[in-house]
Amino acid sequence: WATFEPDIEAIERLKVEHDAVILAHNYMTPEIYHGVADIVGDSLALAREAQHVRAGTIVLAGVHFMAETAKLLNPAKRVLLPDLRSGCSLAESITPEQVRALRAEHPGVPVVTYVNTSAAIKAESDICCTSGNAVRVIESLGVDKVIMIPDQYLARNIAARTGVEVITHPGACEVHERFTPLDIAEIRQGNEDVVVLAHPECPPDVVQAADYAGSTADMQAYVEQHRPAKVALITECSMSDNVAAGHPDIDFVRPCNLCPHMKRNTLGAIRASLEHGRHEITVEPSLADAARLSIERMLAVS
Ligand code: 13P
Ligand code: SF4
Repeated sequence: WATFEPDIEAIERLKVEHDAVILAHNYMTPEIYHGVADIVGDSLALAREAQHVRAGTIVLAGVHFMAETAKLLNPAKRVLLPDLRSGCSLAESITPEQVRALRAEHPGVPVVTYVNTSAAIKAESDICCTSGNAVRVIESLGVDKVIMIPDQYLARNIAARTGVEVITHPGACEVHERFTPLDIAEIRQGNEDVVVLAHPECPPDVVQAADYAGSTADMQAYVEQHRPAKVALITECSMSDNVAAGHPDIDFVRPCNLCPHMKRNTLGAIRASLEHGRHEITVEPSLADAARLSIERMLAVS
């Protein structure tokens, strides 16, 4: 930890100097999550908290779509993303033309869009959702069919829980699609008492092989409520590191997968972001109102 201290001290000083707060996703490494973040959470919590920030600058320690969401909800504030290369395979999997084609093919069917998308996709959508509120969002629509984009696995996992028919797009999270039921079988071998929690971006056969599925915040809440002796979090690696730090009595069984986009966030990148005011995120004005509306509809439901 001592090696991180100079950067942590510099970041704390820069936050005061620049009237900034750091919003950090649960996949940040522990020195960011426990060392410099002011607010931590899943995608839903970060979107909610972005609405209530008082500081003039938000540093989003996460990926591009999260910074864009924060900017949409806070147009008057400066939103910084430490590394512009922090993308997301889901956000990159779909274009506005593809959304329009789906609508044309299925007239009258509402478009429910995962927040892991660009503002241009949100602007084409009726409502957004996260993995933490997807069931509630779908049920709030009171329909028997939705277009749910762009994560085919999240869509199928949520369809199984709601009974609502989903029309999907072939997007996937490059981190969660790599998990297989065999990984879970191997974890259970020799760990008979392990509780397996999977993220709903995992393929449906992985979710079925797990004991529980939920967003990163749901997984954390499950661990805190049930306090299993042994747990496996089928998600990005830093999730286990961050939850384990607060629960030395719980045995966290690996393996896990790394998200290369989330890992672009380092203490050095955050420090440089504050020092040089980079990289400022803006949203094309012609898209902003429509994109904001789909996020606000989601927040009103959850
Ligand atoms: P949640 O934190 O909303 O579960 O999302 C996981 C994720 O992959 C974000 O990129
Ligand atoms: Fe995107 Fe998956 Fe990385 Fe989240 S973990 S940012 S969904 S690639």
